[in-house]
Amino acid sequence: MDIKIAPSILASDFSCVKESVTALERCGADYVHCDVMDGNFVPPITFGAQMVKGIRPHTSLPLDCHLMVLHPETHIEDFARAGADIITVHVEACDIPKLFGQIASHGVKKSAVINPETPVEKIFPAAEEGADMLLVMSVHPGWGGQKFIPETLKKIEKLRSFCEKIGRSDLDIEVDGGITEENVRDVIAAGANVIVAGSTVFRSRDMAKTIARLRG
Ligand code: DX5
Ligand code: ZN
Repeated sequence: MDIKIAPSILASDFSCVKESVTALERCGADYVHCDVMDGNFVPPITFGAQMVKGIRPHTSLPLDCHLMVLHPETHIEDFARAGADIITVHVEACDIPKLFGQIASHGVKKSAVINPETPVEKIFPAAEEGADMLLVMSVHPGWGGQKFIPETLKKIEKLRSFCEKIGRSDLDIEVDGGITEENVRDVIAAGANVIVAGSTVFRSRDMAKTIARLRG
């Protein structure tokens, strides 16, 4: 499968997000990962649909919106209108079939995510519900710059084999949190093909080289 790199703008300088997204495109990123936090599902507040709308005209890269929010159903329309290409909702926060129906009704790609403490089996139904992507958190959601939780590798392996078993070997599996040039090979070997990287990309001296190295 093609490896896609999705740098998270959470790690970027919020005083110049426009410059950051144009730099990401120039440097070969595949998606712009947008970490939306509401101060409820996770303690911090980051940004919402208004930010996505602001970014939209400045890049042709798909906007990969990860909603760490309670009641995501009340925000789907706003994110779709703002220009989200992929919307990811937490299995811990909503009823996946209902949300997938809502997301798809706007012509947006639908994705589900599980937290580190959630058993991987909880995301299996989303694969059967026609997910376009599934995300496995490899840190506790809420903050960038945390350390990768190694137990995530087993979850990715189990998810990849489940997808193959049900004839969904095409399904993108994204991994998010603590990804470095050192551990990226392991997550790809486990079966992930969409790699979120915040700190690793934005703290590097040469984003183009870092993105190329993450892709392998
Ligand atoms: C955590 C976010 C991640 C995070 C990744 O809640 O979902 O996307 O920004 O950041 P790094 O790559 O710095 O761990
Ligand atoms: Zn994220």
